[in-house]
Parts: sequence; C-alpha cells; structure tokens
Amino acid sequence: MDVKKVSVFGLGYVGLTFSVCLASRGFNVVGVDVDTVKVKLINSGETPFYESKLKDLLTKVLGENNFRCTINAKEAVLNSFASFICVGTPSKPDGSIDLKYIRSVSRSIGVALKDKDDYHLIVVRSTVTPGTTRNIVKRVVERFSGKKCGVDFGLCMNPEFLREGSAINDIFNSDRVIIGEFDSESGDLLKRLYVEFYGDDLPPMLRTTLENAEFIKYANNAFLAMKISFINEIANICEKVKGADVTLIARGLGLDHRINHLFLNAGLGWGGSCFPKDLDALIAFSKKLSYNPILLDAVRRVNELQPLRAVEMAKKLIRRLKGKRIAILGLAFKPGTDDMRNAVSIGIINKLIEEGAVVVAYDPAAMDNAKKIFGDSIEYASSIVDCLRDADCAILVTEWDEFRELTPEDFIKYMKTPAVIDGRRIFHPKEFSSKLKFAAIGLGKFVD
Ligand code: UGA
Repeated sequence: MDVKKVSVFGLGYVGLTFSVCLASRGFNVVGVDVDTVKVKLINSGETPFYESKLKDLLTKVLGENNFRCTINAKEAVLNSFASFICVGTPSKPDGSIDLKYIRSVSRSIGVALKDKDDYHLIVVRSTVTPGTTRNIVKRVVERFSGKKCGVDFGLCMNPEFLREGSAINDIFNSDRVIIGEFDSESGDLLKRLYVEFYGDDLPPMLRTTLENAEFIKYANNAFLAMKISFINEIANICEKVKGADVTLIARGLGLDHRINHLFLNAGLGWGGSCFPKDLDALIAFSKKLSYNPILLDAVRRVNELQPLRAVEMAKKLIRRLKGKRIAILGLAFKPGTDDMRNAVSIGIINKLIEEGAVVVAYDPAAMDNAKKIFGDSIEYASSIVDCLRDADCAILVTEWDEFRELTPEDFIKYMKTPAVIDGRRIFHPKEFSSKLKFAAIGLGKFVD
C-alpha cells in the first residue's frame, strides 16, 4: 500500500492548496474536479484564485510531475491509495448546510471503487455537520460501490484549519491533526500518511470518532468568531467610558494564558467564506436538534450590527451624510486577500449609499471583485491618494499594511474635511485626535 499516492476531489481553496502541499513533499497527487476549465487552468500552471505562495508551489510540483488534474474520478481512484473529499459545503437560504456536492462526489468515488480490488481510504476534509460522514458519505459510497466500509474501504473525517492568505504555511505548520475514524485501521492509515508528510515535525494528533472530528471544526470556528464578537462588544462599551481603550484592554486580557491575545483585535466585525457560513450551519444544526443556541445567536447578532457602527461614527463626526463624499479604505474581508465574500465593507457601503452619501473606495487587491458587487453605484479609486482626495470623511475598513503608514498629515493634505474613522485600530489615537476629527472602534473619550 503506497500511502503517498493520493487523489483530491474538489480543487477549490482547500483542495488545491492541500494537493500542492502534499505533492511538494513527494506525494503523487491527482486532483479531480468537475470543472474542465479549472482543470485545464491548473494543469497549465495557473491558479483559479489568489493565495500567497500557491502559484510558485504549483509550478514546482507540476514540473516535478507530482501533481496533475483530471475530471476522470475513476482513473484517480484506481491510481491512488486515498481519496480526500474537499468539495464546497455552501449554505442553503435557511443557513443550513447544502450537501449536494458531498453526495455527488461520494457517488463518483463509489462508482469508481466498484472496479477497484484493493483497499481504499476515503477522507472527508470538507466542513460537514456531525453525522454527515457516517450517514451520507459512508452510505452513498457503499451503495454505489457495492462494498463495505471497514472491510473494503476505510473512512476518516479530517478537518482543515487553514486561513486564507496563509493557507500554505498553515498546512505545513499545523497546530494539530484531527483524525475522526470509522475504525482503527482507517485511522492508522491516515496517521501513516501524515507521518510521511510531516516527518519529524508531526503536530499533536487527536484520534476520535467521525462525529467529534466534524464537530471540532464547527466549534473551532464558532469559538474564534465568539472571541471576536466578545472583544467587539467590549469595544462598544469602551466607547462610552472616558479613559477606556479596547486595544489596551485586549492586551491585558491576552496576557492571561487561558485567554491569549490571538483573535482579540476589535474591529468592524468578521467576514469571509467560513465564519459566517459555519456559524449559520451550526445554529441551524442545533435548532434542528431542538436546541436553541443562545450564545451562538448572540455572536452572530453582535457581528451583524458591528459594521454599521462605522456609519454611526461617520454621522457623529460629520453630521449629515447626504451628498457627502466618503472614502472607504479597504474592501476585502481581511488583508492579504482579494476575497470579498461576506466582507463587512459591503454592509457599510450599502448603508452609506442608503443615507445618500457618495462613496469612493480603494483596496490594494479587491477592486475587481468589488466592481462585481457594487457596479457603478460607487466610485473606484486607483490609489489611496485618489481615494482621499476631496473626501469629507474616511473610514478604514480593512487593515492593509499600506494604510498603516498613513499619517494625520496625509489625510489633512488630501481630504476636503479631514475626518477619520479607524475601524481596525491601526492609527495612533492621541496623535490623530490632536490633529483631525477622529473616532475609532473601542476608543472612549480621553481623560483631560
Ligand atoms: C477561518 C479560520 O481562522 C480558519 O482556522 C479556518 O480553517 C477557516 O476560517 C475555514 O473554516 O476554512 P479565514 O476565514 O481565512 O479563516 O480568516 P481569519 O483570519 O480567521 O479571519 C476571519 C475574519 O475575522 C476576518 O474578517 C478578520 O478580519 C476577522 N478578525 C480576525 C477580526 O475581526 N479580529 C481578529 O482578531 C481576528
């Protein structure tokens, strides 16, 4: 059994980054996707989305013949020892998880397995609600292959924890490997695969049930979202307390090693393709089980209101928004990506437009994606200066490094009336407050 022969189903964010990381360490990887255009693109060395370091690594593994992509599921299954399922699990309108891609890929793997004599390991890496691997993947594969789980094929659930923008590093330097296993043979084999991949740097490993592994992923994202909503709520209270500043409070909290400082940056809220979708799915899942998740609902509610605080602050600083020119610095859901899925900038801009403001926006990476969302309802600047020119108010929405270098003088020089809202706490509050109209998330009035 060659554990280094692997097929990866679904060449989206999770599947493609994982594939090239495996291939870069000598694994022989076949990527499978139903999208022929995507398959051709990747085989030609191009990535379908931007991710730091991915293109170089892809070029390397294609050159070494360790990675290739196909639409042929059967060929991939027959030529690999393990198949990783990395397809998307989008939300349905009610927030619950849509498992259509999980079903279809399980079916393709099942059909292919029918013609395979050797044992095969199936590993679910997509984020799926507890019970999915056992009740859907196992059943569908058994049905279409005519084979038996635990005898002819093994089954594991192995969630990923990578972040956009640092996906490659996150895979190579994982905090832990979670292995949910149908039986110990499946878990042993997946462990062997990871021992090959990590060598002496094998991260701490937790072996558990399929359901616990599925749950850990949801609990993980819900916890991180909760940490941010928590500090955002503290920030909102700080703004009403003379002498209070959330950045110092977070620093103090973070020194308690039971809490730690990570994910305690107050701001305009969390976005992206994972936290909102996963929190909604966990809430819908709990409610289906007749449990009302009070805390999770509150985590989401705080986050729905948080972006709008920027608009409230703008109203306080410059009074009327109607007809005013508002500069938006940063559109992507976080720095280091062009991704605008569930970006807080969307809610802020829509609200400003509703209030009659003229919006001009700039982002170092997400301009093309922003144009698809806002069309000609806003103006697009080609640089920071272009964005600030003649503006009545500037709102810092995404904390790109190049915005950190801005001084009060830059705003004074280019804006019509220098009024700045720091939505991510990157500017020095005393310096900015002394030179221009300034408000920031989590910043109370200064004590005299
Ligand atoms: C998140 C998790 O961090 C990953 O562990 C997980 O694997 C991934 O979701 C997923 O489920 O696939 P990601 O969505 O890429 O990763 O982004 P994060 O870096 O976690 O940031 C999420 C949001 O939280 C961003 O909008 C960011 O601005 C916000 N955030 C983060 C804060 O507002 N404050 C913080 O202190 C940290």
